[in-house]
Amino acid sequence: MMPGMGAVATTLIAGVELVKKGLGEPVGSLTQLGTVWLGKRTENRVPKIKDFVPLSGMEDLVFGGWDAFPDNAYEAAIAAGVLIKEHLNAVRDELLKVRPMPAVFDPRYVAKLDGTHVKDYGSLREATEKVRQDIRAFKEENGLERAVMVNCASTEAYAQPQKAHFSPEEFEKALDRSDPSISPAMVYAYAAIMEDVPYANGAPSLAADIPALVDLANERGVPVAGKDFKTGQTLMKTIVAPGLKARMLGLEGWYSTNILGNRDGEVLEDPESLKSKEVSKLGVLDTILQPEKNPKLYGNISHLVKINYYPPRGDAKEGWDSIDIFGWLGYPMQIKINFLARDSILAAPIVLDLALFLDLAQRAGMSGMQEWLSFYFKSPMSAPGLYPEHDLFIQQMKLKNRLRAMKGEDLITHLGLDCYE
Ligand SMILES: NC(=O)c1ccc[n+]([C@@H]2O[C@H](COP(=O)([O-])OP(=O)(O)OC[C@H]3O[C@@H](n4cnc5c(N)ncnc54)[C@H](O)[C@@H]3O)[C@@H](O)[C@H]2O)c1
Repeated sequence: MMPGMGAVATTLIAGVELVKKGLGEPVGSLTQLGTVWLGKRTENRVPKIKDFVPLSGMEDLVFGGWDAFPDNAYEAAIAAGVLIKEHLNAVRDELLKVRPMPAVFDPRYVAKLDGTHVKDYGSLREATEKVRQDIRAFKEENGLERAVMVNCASTEAYAQPQKAHFSPEEFEKALDRSDPSISPAMVYAYAAIMEDVPYANGAPSLAADIPALVDLANERGVPVAGKDFKTGQTLMKTIVAPGLKARMLGLEGWYSTNILGNRDGEVLEDPESLKSKEVSKLGVLDTILQPEKNPKLYGNISHLVKINYYPPRGDAKEGWDSIDIFGWLGYPMQIKINFLARDSILAAPIVLDLALFLDLAQRAGMSGMQEWLSFYFKSPMSAPGLYPEHDLFIQQMKLKNRLRAMKGEDLITHLGLDCYE
């Protein structure tokens, strides 16, 4: 179930239906295509992840959600302009059936949209009750055993944790008095947790990553993960930066700029929504490079991130990175990355993987923050006092080792002892 049924959500739904019909491949999805190496290299045991752990299959999935506009998934996908007409028409019937339920919407949090398909509610408590009712009804109507929620709604205005966010008790009281510090994203997350539905946040909005909801998720035994899908420029950054650091090459500056022209980009024209995204994107270099441990190489980095709404690009986002590095004796060099990306094409497989892995986590008895899913996020959640892990390769190791541990297999250390036997 997805709050926000725009470009990312409809690209996911159409993609899954196309794959089910044999009309496309789930490229970019670790759950569908990834493998996991087990035991010693000499054993040559490398099953597909989906054969190794008991994930739900794509044929078991049913999609639903909420949006501030009433368009069904076919209309929304046409408007998003990500997939070509031939693809959409091949799954038109399936998409027409997916109609969003009215949203919990607050223009203070998404200033650029004038939502027309919204719920009536007296208090935020009532809003949570309505979303919980929607979840129950959706499961019943579709004969579902379980559900997962992945937030694909527009980026909300930047918010920092406040008193109402610090404990489940304060949060409950804040719902009763409709405290303005509770955002729609938090209402959905709370409703999911209360319905024992695992939750992931694909947007940079503050949601399940507040202490009140992490504690609630722990109490109720519900896994949560977030936030902000790691897709384009930040994916590249967390691939390249660990490589530079591995070779002890210095960094003077990293200038990143993006242009994008979809509705996500339009929402980001609002300075408060933009701030949520920029803060989410800026964190990665410091934790990968650890300037305090390597001040000569990384102690004085200029890191700039700019995002501009440029309608002609549509969903085909363009990211430029200009990276100033230095090598032996401090001699300067430059790297340029020009990523002609497709936003939703990169995000859709992440939504699929998160839904399947979170469902698995719940069945495996895991609850609260799921750090092993950091692999998918620009701003991974981590325990208080611990820095989040941004390095894509460490994240991948965490994820696969978690799967190995779940199945009682040895963790991979890469010691390579089999070479010396
Ligand atoms: N590569 C990517 O596409 C990518 C990467 C990282 C994060 N994200 C995040 O994913 C989210 C979705 O991206 P998108 O490209 O699909 O955007 P989109 O604008 O196409 O879709 C977002 C949808 O959310 C709806 N919405 C807004 N407020 C809502 C609310 N309160 N309840 C229910 N629906 C609401 C909008 O009407 C819209 O249809 C954004 O927050 C974006 O920042 C996307």
